Amino acid sequence: MANDASAVFDTLSPAVSRGSLADSFTPPADSTLWRKNFLLGAATASYQIEGAVNEDGRLPSIWDTFSAIPGKVLAGDTGAVACDHYHRWEADVEMLASLGLEGYRLSIAWPRVMDAAGAPNRKGLDFYKRLLNRLKEKGITTFVTLYHWDLPQHLEDRGGWLNRDTAYRFADYADLMSRELAGTVDAWATLNEPWCSAYLGYGNGHHAPGLANDRFATQAMHHLLLAHGLAMPVLRANDPASEKGIVANIGRGTPNSDSAADQRAAHLFEVQHNAWILDPLLKGSYPQDLFELWPGTEPLVLDGDMQTISARLDFLGINYYFRTNVASDGAHGFRDVPLEGVERTQMGWEVYPDGLRDLLTGFKKTYHNLPPIYITENGMASDDQVTDGHVEDTQRISFLKRHLAAVDQAIKAGVDIRGYFLWSLMDNFEWAFGYERRFGVVHVDYSTQKRTIKRSAELVEKFLKERKARA
Ligand code: FCB
Repeated sequence: MANDASAVFDTLSPAVSRGSLADSFTPPADSTLWRKNFLLGAATASYQIEGAVNEDGRLPSIWDTFSAIPGKVLAGDTGAVACDHYHRWEADVEMLASLGLEGYRLSIAWPRVMDAAGAPNRKGLDFYKRLLNRLKEKGITTFVTLYHWDLPQHLEDRGGWLNRDTAYRFADYADLMSRELAGTVDAWATLNEPWCSAYLGYGNGHHAPGLANDRFATQAMHHLLLAHGLAMPVLRANDPASEKGIVANIGRGTPNSDSAADQRAAHLFEVQHNAWILDPLLKGSYPQDLFELWPGTEPLVLDGDMQTISARLDFLGINYYFRTNVASDGAHGFRDVPLEGVERTQMGWEVYPDGLRDLLTGFKKTYHNLPPIYITENGMASDDQVTDGHVEDTQRISFLKRHLAAVDQAIKAGVDIRGYFLWSLMDNFEWAFGYERRFGVVHVDYSTQKRTIKRSAELVEKFLKERKARA
């Protein structure tokens, strides 16, 4: 690659004048991001923003249960109120539209729209109908994720994703939603980040429901992917005009040394983070190296499951945040070796835009049937403060610029990438880290629910206006 996206980083301080920051954000003239059909939007998820967890018949989700357990979430935070989006959605849509964002990725809370017997909850459904209709009135392209981690607790009580039946319940839910919402959804994503649901939820217990067993993780993954595969034909039948796909988080693993053992460790890291999900979806089989890493964890797979899982995708959503430097653990796995002196975010995650480009170009080589890609999440957390009504989130501006440059490089290298969603539209409930970690391009004051547009959002708006004004 001629351009090293991470080398473009210039240390931006809050003292940098607004004018020069603005100039530094605009992509270069030859960037593919100037193409008007490259969709630029923002993303959120139901449990992270909605609040109103006991209203209008919403049932408890695994995140209500998990966040109520002392010690599971930083500062004891829960999503009970979050950004109060359930009540403030109209103003939030106005804000999104006023920023000129062209796309909005949201998720539906399964426990809000269906009861335990599978019957629709009209009040919950009406919320999403109003929201999606308003977004369409505003000309915003809508990406709807069916499952962004808020499993109904009554399903977890029957085994959650360890129970094969949950995959069939998910297909019923997808059926209801696509019958009710057809015409207002441009793109459906079945699942958000099955890696997190399976591994963080059932493998190491950092996320709801908090179980920790590698064997559970592989079985939960199989049922999640089966749920996706069962839902795809249902979505196609009920809403033929929309695009259908899935969203995966991907991780870059780099070796700590040139030794064969460390190279192997980096390979296994990427098998565990990427191939575990992408191989079944795009090749119809699990990577055998996964079971070298976790011996004896092969999931129970029934005849026909892999065909169901590997049905054609219209698009693949990719979420990317950071890379992990690894070394061999001396056995059959890897261990993290954090690099010193590298730029990190408030999460401690290394800023590494080249990882996004390299993974995308690598997938293009590995998967001959790689579908068109949307970057469905990318962004960073910083400890943003409002000063005199402004938020100067200089690190985020630089981060976004460099990751968009990496996307441009991947497009120029031949990867079909059609859009990019900022994570996130606004600060929100960051799972096990609660409200401390601010990922938004809009600041939220949780004591007043006041929204303040951060400088990064103003610059995205400025770019989108310029792009629109071009002949
Ligand atoms: C992703 C999640 C999203 C958000 C970001 C920071 O793993 O999909 O909800 O928490 O990380």
